Parts: sequence; structure tokens; C-alpha cells
Amino acid sequence: MTWNRRHLLDLQSLTAEEITLILDVAREFRAVGERDVKKVGVLQGRTVVNLFVEPSTRTRISFELAALRLSADVINFTAEASSLKKGETLKDTVRNLESMSADFVILRHGASGAPHFLSRFARCHIINAGDGAHEHPTQGLLDVFTIRERKGRIAGLKVTILGDILYSRVARSNIWALLKLGAEVTLCGPPTLVPRVFEQWGCRVTWNVHEAVRGADVVNLLRIQHERQRKTMFPSTGEYAALFGLNQARASLLHPEALIMHPGPINRGVEIESELADGERSVILEQVANGLAVRMAVLHLINGGQPGQIC
Ligand code: CP
Repeated sequence: MTWNRRHLLDLQSLTAEEITLILDVAREFRAVGERDVKKVGVLQGRTVVNLFVEPSTRTRISFELAALRLSADVINFTAEASSLKKGETLKDTVRNLESMSADFVILRHGASGAPHFLSRFARCHIINAGDGAHEHPTQGLLDVFTIRERKGRIAGLKVTILGDILYSRVARSNIWALLKLGAEVTLCGPPTLVPRVFEQWGCRVTWNVHEAVRGADVVNLLRIQHERQRKTMFPSTGEYAALFGLNQARASLLHPEALIMHPGPINRGVEIESELADGERSVILEQVANGLAVRMAVLHLINGGQPGQIC
């Protein structure tokens, strides 16, 4: 299996084999991260621009560190201090970056489809770092990587995604990756945030939190995306926490060796009790660590690298 895509825009269009290839290469890069010298030269001479038009902590720093570990030159574009504020379009911005020899643009944008739009004319490689409520492909990849490393497989696992599914790009990327790799996916949250249309994708939809968590091998908790909700979708965060937050009683219904996941940022006391977020079954910080290896793998493959070519 070889990689032959110029961009990473979503997981919906990837095959199970392509997803598995990224996970396998990420494993090689995780081993690089355990060496004394954690840097390799596969992106030497390449320029990576982090173009984040929405806030980020994990994804932006993880891409920056991934590119630096691969020996690329890295530019962090700050939207607030850029000519986007003066009315310059995204297309003109990227054309200008290309004139300064950008080889990769890592884009986070509030508009669903923004990376796909750029890919129609860009000479550089476009990587989607989260577009609106559409997809967040590297988050989906690092989540399935974390599950596979811990459980040894994805196929046949019962994975519950609990929270704001409707507005979540993380949910969509997770759903595509998990279904393609053979997991059983259950979605749960308030009915206003978990529409039945997801059943047509192949997911189970339930608004009963006990039913959703009982016997699950993995529970992935999602933040309420207040910034994307145009109207009130539930009465209060207090009521949300009472009805859908993961607490000790609900966590006791999970499989005894279940993984508790969250893409971050966490709202402690809302979607998850603090003790559970920091507890033994939580792999939240492991997800962050694995994100670095996954993003190194994505950059390497898109640059034309192949498995086993890492020195
Ligand atoms: N998980 C995630 O996308 O986090 P950031 O918004 O901090 O990048």
C-alpha cells in the first residue's frame, strides 16, 4: 500500500487501507519520539505554514512540533495580526504564502469546506486542521491510533461518542474512521444535538445515556460547541451535566477496561467529572502525545515519503 494523495482534507474519502497506513507510519514516528535525538530529516528544506483562523492549543502546537521534528521550516500565521483583518481573502492569502515558497498549509477555519476550496487551486499541500462542523481528520486519526495502541484492534469494539455531535467536526472524523475500521459506533447526547440522520451513516443513535455507556469499550466525550450553536440547544450547562455528563455512576456501567477519551479542551464538571478526566482509565493526555506521531506521519506521507523510510 502506498500513499498518493496531495492533501488531507477529510477521513470520509479515505479508504480503510489508507487510514491503516497512516496509523502504521505513526507507530514508526512514535518510536522516533522515544529516541534521545527525536529529530529526523524527512522535511528538510520544506516550509510548513500553520494558518489557524480559529483558536487552537493542541492542534497548532502539535503540527508545529511535528514539522520541526521532521526538520521543516515552520511559520505560524496569526490571523488576528494578518491582512485577513484588512479584507484580504483566504485565496489571496494562500497565493501569497505560495509565492514565499510554502510547501504545506495547515488550515483551521470556521467555514466547513474551506480546505476543500483551497485544494482546488493550491500548488502547495493542504491539510485540514478542523473546518467548521465538518471534519478534523488528524483528531480522528489520533483517536483511532490511541484506541488501536491500547486495545490492539478497532474492529468489533463498542465505541460511544457522547456530547454535542451535531456541531462537532471531531465526531464526524471519528465516525468515518471508526466505521471504516469496523467499530460499532453509538452516538448519545440531547436529542437537539444528536439527530437520527446519523443512523443513515451506520451509527446507533440513543438519547439514553445509560444505554449508551453500558458495556462500551471506549467512551469519547465531546465539548458543547457553544461557538457554533446559533440558538439554545438545551436549557443550561448544569442540566446538561446532570443528564449527560460522565460521572462515577455512569462510568461504572462502562466495560471495566474501557478507555475514557476527550479531544480537549475539557470543560471539567460539564461533560466529564474532574476525577474521571484525571483517573486511571483516562487516556486524554495520551491522545495528545499520539497526535504528534500521527501528524508527523501525515506530513511525511503527503511529502511523498513511504513507510520504513524514516532514518
Ligand atoms: N482537539 C483540538 O482540536 O484541540 P485544539 O482546539 O486546542 O486544537
